[in-house]
Amino acid sequence: MANGRHPQRRTVRRHPTSEPVPVPHVRKNLRLWQSQSAEYDRRFTSVLSGPRAEAWGFDRVPESELDLLGAVRGRDVLELGCGAARWSVALARRGARAVGLDFSSAQLDRAQGVVAKSGARVRLIRASAEAVPIRDGTFDLIFCDWGAMTFCDPQRTVPECARLLRPGGRLVFATASPIATLAWNLRSDRISPKLRRDYFGLHRIDFPKEVNFQLPYGAWIALFRENGLQVERLVEPRMGRAGSSRYLSGETYRWGKRWPLEAIWSVRKEGGMRSAIERSGPRRGVRERS
Ligand SMILES: C[S@@+](CC[C@H](N)C(=O)[O-])C[C@H]1O[C@@H](n2cnc3c(N)ncnc32)[C@H](O)[C@@H]1O
Repeated sequence: MANGRHPQRRTVRRHPTSEPVPVPHVRKNLRLWQSQSAEYDRRFTSVLSGPRAEAWGFDRVPESELDLLGAVRGRDVLELGCGAARWSVALARRGARAVGLDFSSAQLDRAQGVVAKSGARVRLIRASAEAVPIRDGTFDLIFCDWGAMTFCDPQRTVPECARLLRPGGRLVFATASPIATLAWNLRSDRISPKLRRDYFGLHRIDFPKEVNFQLPYGAWIALFRENGLQVERLVEPRMGRAGSSRYLSGETYRWGKRWPLEAIWSVRKEGGMRSAIERSGPRRGVRERS
């Protein structure tokens, strides 16, 4: 679901289609996204475009309310698992140098159409988010809304994001909450108040047609810290603002009024100006806000 710096020039690159996709869970997920791309777009375009392009999760909470990404003008921004790249187009319109990455050529074909129509400048890359063919320290911001962070092993993507970020850069992503993962019935794809799996050891979640990944809260935080990423925020949107969701059954939406269906993590890479200022504390004569 990104513009402003180069809105006039249309320089969308054709994505290469020969990337190897070696890891079995990545292959299984790729099969799903190649086959369901058209159906996904048909069902969800209306909630992913226009003013809702920059919004989070099942209830489409506007970024203008959550302010998770901060200022993007002049920043190098990577969307991991960009789908039709509507977010990236919206950020490019606000002045970001936006790159949309996805491993599905079907999804990227759609993205190419959306980008071309928008006139925004968004570079599209075909690769798995677990092995991104871009050099270290390229991005100020990496983000996704239920993108590749849901489908990839965090033991691979978190170090990869830490590598790709500049010091002081941020990783922000929305995915399932660990609590929702515990309660999900993988076969019926429904959720109930019953806990269905162990919390300890949570990692790979095998749905019939896709593989998702999840960690216990403490393991997420430990993994971020091992990779030099400090947790800044964890937003847990409560369902209810829209009354219903195009993505969810009524039962699941009601569940989401009681427990968090989603977790939006915001973590910052150590180093950079901001951290240096934070470490040295407030300047003399500058009062901290209470
Ligand atoms: C639920 S869609 C979300 C896309 C976009 N945020 C949206 O809402 O339309 C998940 C996207 O992640 C992509 N994806 C899944 N696994 C990936 C991987 N290993 N590497 C790159 N992209 C991946 C899929 O192809 C798909 O486009």
